[in-house]
Amino acid sequence: MYSSKISGVGHYVPERVVTNDDLSKIIDTNDAWITERTGIKERRFADLEAGETPSVMGTKAAELALKRANISKHDIDFIIFATLSPDYYFPGPGVMVQDQLGIGEIGALDVRNQCSGFVYGLSVADQFIKTGMYKNILLIGAELHSGGLDMTSRGRGVSVIFGDGAGAVVISRAENGEEGILSTHMHSEGKYAKELALLSPNTSHWVPEIMQKNDPEDLSYYPYMNGNFVFKHAVVRFSEVIEEALQTNNCSVSDIDLLIPHQANLRISQFIQKKMGMRDDQVFNNIMKYGNTTAASIPIAMSEAWEEGRLQPGKLICLAAFGSGFTWASALLRWH
Ligand code: UT7
Repeated sequence: MYSSKISGVGHYVPERVVTNDDLSKIIDTNDAWITERTGIKERRFADLEAGETPSVMGTKAAELALKRANISKHDIDFIIFATLSPDYYFPGPGVMVQDQLGIGEIGALDVRNQCSGFVYGLSVADQFIKTGMYKNILLIGAELHSGGLDMTSRGRGVSVIFGDGAGAVVISRAENGEEGILSTHMHSEGKYAKELALLSPNTSHWVPEIMQKNDPEDLSYYPYMNGNFVFKHAVVRFSEVIEEALQTNNCSVSDIDLLIPHQANLRISQFIQKKMGMRDDQVFNNIMKYGNTTAASIPIAMSEAWEEGRLQPGKLICLAAFGSGFTWASALLRWH
């Protein structure tokens, strides 16, 4: 059995910055409300005319991760792409990365686990490397939310939260006894599927029917979130799954050098930090700059933490996520 480690991290965010004040010009909202409830000050919106799709952003993040891993794109054995906002309904964006990178005919897998998608993808990659099947796997999380949000006051409870961007990591076989990924943990509770969901179009509500009805009251093609309900479950599940990772490895909260939570809401991060008795320097937050970028949020945060020198050899890093499904997941890793 082999071990795996993260050998490179990268991210790409669109240039266009959209501040809370910008949103308040088109939606009945304001900077004070958004800041107080979520911590978000601004987010990035992709430029569709310039071709900034999830796969394109993901490929850019991947190129940086490959450079930092110091490996050639031709050494990648497999691609995993986590997103809830693929370029197309099908095929998924993994194959587009294979094409855009211009590499061989390797496998490309798409992961549909929303906010937990990156950690789920990490777990899949870890298993492939542990068994010896692959040596280097490219894992991408990328989202383009801006094009699908209800940018009217009606949608303000959801639309002010989300942003666009991409992050990527290269996961490689660990050498010489390096520890790397220690464990991963995944959970789901499908009875709450509709509490945070984008329901249409779907196999029983197809586009022709939607067009034929042309019903202005049909909001099923906008994301829906039962915000309070999701919040209450998030704080419980985040702490549980972090504890699970710690217990599995006989570690305690004080051993964590950096917790990188999915950036859902600064208040959620602060709640978990307080509940678990963690110091400010143990928790990484960058939601202020990017909003919630779903599957991209953890790899973007990891890439920024790496740039800030906070991912140093020997550090114990915990990743944790919760979101639509509901799904939640964590990973504990020793940086190398
Ligand atoms: O990443 C996946 C997981 N997602 C999450 O974990 C998100 C979890 N949920 C949340 O973060 C929070 O529930 C939100 C930030 C989405 C909402 O915060 P909240 O404190 O739960 O607010 P609320 O929905 O209860 O709304 C409170 C008030 C309402 O007005 P009334 O009924 O009290 O008069 C809303 O209409 O705030 C109003 N409101 C807004 N006002 C200004 C809702 N959205 C806005 C807005 N601007 N954008």
